[in-house]
Amino acid sequence: MKYGVIGDIHGNLEALTTVLEECEKLGVEKYLCIGDIVGYNANPSECLEIVRNLPLAGVVMGNHDEQAAEDTDLIGFNPQAAHAIQWTRKQLSDEQREYLRNLKLSVQIGKITIVHATLDSPRRWGYVFDKHSAGASFSYQFSQVCFCGHSHVPLAFEKFGKVIGGKYEEIRVQPGHKYLVNVGSVGQPRDGDWRAAFVIYDTDENLVKLYRLPYDIKTTQQKIRDAGLPERLAVRLENGQ
Ligand SMILES: [Fe+2]
Repeated sequence: MKYGVIGDIHGNLEALTTVLEECEKLGVEKYLCIGDIVGYNANPSECLEIVRNLPLAGVVMGNHDEQAAEDTDLIGFNPQAAHAIQWTRKQLSDEQREYLRNLKLSVQIGKITIVHATLDSPRRWGYVFDKHSAGASFSYQFSQVCFCGHSHVPLAFEKFGKVIGGKYEEIRVQPGHKYLVNVGSVGQPRDGDWRAAFVIYDTDENLVKLYRLPYDIKTTQQKIRDAGLPERLAVRLENGQ
């Protein structure tokens, strides 16, 4: 099975459609979505409809999905993120917000688990940047491979006795080893590379591969400005931050 693993789409329609066209060309059969479908960019409703209608093997809730679905005060979000979430709430229908509200925090599909942040405490929305935070998540990982997101930085960790990890391009999945793989962000990468990130996991080849794709970023930025969203959200896209 060839899984397309996508996440942190954040309402970026140009990046999402570019990624999905490439996935189709590469023979993806099913999709796994690690959450944050909405927030930040200007097409949350359109992106949500596209994702919902994919042949999904699994989808989980991200922190922006959670907040867009609720009416609570936005504590712990920076001002730009909070502004974007308030705006996003108004773009989504009640039914779409209901869909987001009902998403699970983690889902296991055979030998694969998906979670937005970490498995040790998914709703605390912690970040995995080092082997210590990866180790905490591994303690709750009962599958061989777990895909996550949230930091918007593609990093992978491997556990075989000790935990090692860092940047990656390809991972050969070995029997008896466990993996925690951040698939990067489709719609707002933060590793200094503005191109959309996604992963394909070919379970027949035991291969996890990271892809980066340029997309029509100028249109995405113009839509942010036209919507009256913070200028900083347009600027950070091209800086990959
Ligand atoms: Fe995110």
